[in-house]
Amino acid sequence: MKGFGSDNHSGVHPQLLQALIECNVEHAPSYGTDSFSEQAIVQFKKQFGEQAKVFFVFNGTASNVLSLRTMMKRHESVLCSDISHLNMDECGAPEFFAGKLIPLPHTDGKLALETLKHALIRRGDQHFSQPRAISLTQPTELGTCYSLTEIKAITEWAHQNNMLVHIDGARLSNAVYTLQTTFKKMTTDCGIDVVSFGGTKNGLMMGEAIIVLNPQLGEDLKYLRKQAAQLPSKTRFIAYQFSKYLSTQLYLEIATHACTMAEQLAHGLSSIPQIQITRPRQSNAVFARIPQPWIKILREQFFFYVWDEKTFECRLMTSWDTQDNEITAFIDLVKELSLAEV
Ligand SMILES: Cc1ncc(COP(=O)(O)O)c(C=O)c1O
Repeated sequence: MKGFGSDNHSGVHPQLLQALIECNVEHAPSYGTDSFSEQAIVQFKKQFGEQAKVFFVFNGTASNVLSLRTMMKRHESVLCSDISHLNMDECGAPEFFAGKLIPLPHTDGKLALETLKHALIRRGDQHFSQPRAISLTQPTELGTCYSLTEIKAITEWAHQNNMLVHIDGARLSNAVYTLQTTFKKMTTDCGIDVVSFGGTKNGLMMGEAIIVLNPQLGEDLKYLRKQAAQLPSKTRFIAYQFSKYLSTQLYLEIATHACTMAEQLAHGLSSIPQIQITRPRQSNAVFARIPQPWIKILREQFFFYVWDEKTFECRLMTSWDTQDNEITAFIDLVKELSLAEV
């Protein structure tokens, strides 16, 4: 059954499955020393700048946790939003491996500079875990995007205050599409220090990349990655998917498709009076309050998550394989419920 559960509910994009087949030839050196992995690094450097150091890992949690680990000492802390994946969905791994999280209130998923400024307290106090990093999710967990101006303002302030900035970019390509920009403009040129670059949510079978942009960071990362059991022996199978994803502009094709499908979904839902779109739609997620009795009926045909069990705000997510006719069928079903006044 296809639905709107998440972009990691979908399978592998055919071109990326093809990439897996293409690199499934003969023997290749292991642990990222093969030519497929080298090609992928060239592609990342093209997108992010020559100074980028790239580390492939198996999953997004590891990508986040190791990014932070290389940015901070164990007695330091990370400012992040209270609904960030780091804070809500990583089972304490950031605190286990990197340092303390300081979760902060957000607006539609985004941290405001003022909020960060208020959180920068007790510097030099030996009793207090010292803020060292800021983690922004782009697009956020609520599907919104920080503008380049917002990112720049945060990184400038962070650097002035001896702090570093990480982006959790599990779906970074969608933000590039929405903001009509490039990876480099959104990260390197805005002063971002480290990026967790997502693959799994964007059509890859699996695999994420840590991209270290600050030349002063990351020397220890190859050791930290191994220590965290995240060094893929057959790295080529992760790396070559990224190579194809970036070199053929597939990242933009997939992001354009997923975001356009989400826009159609939001548009259709917004015409139904009992439904309230709750967040600005700026990526491949639509957040909407749906009347409770409809949810069970809708989910029997199209699975999606209830984001907030008190308000019945739901998250509907599109993917590279979402079809027009699925959006239409879903909207038609919602319209039926609306007219039947269930
Ligand atoms: C914003 C964000 N960051 C990180 C992750 C972590 O990915 P993984 O489940 O591969 O550890 C997810 C997964 O849902 C995510 O949505």
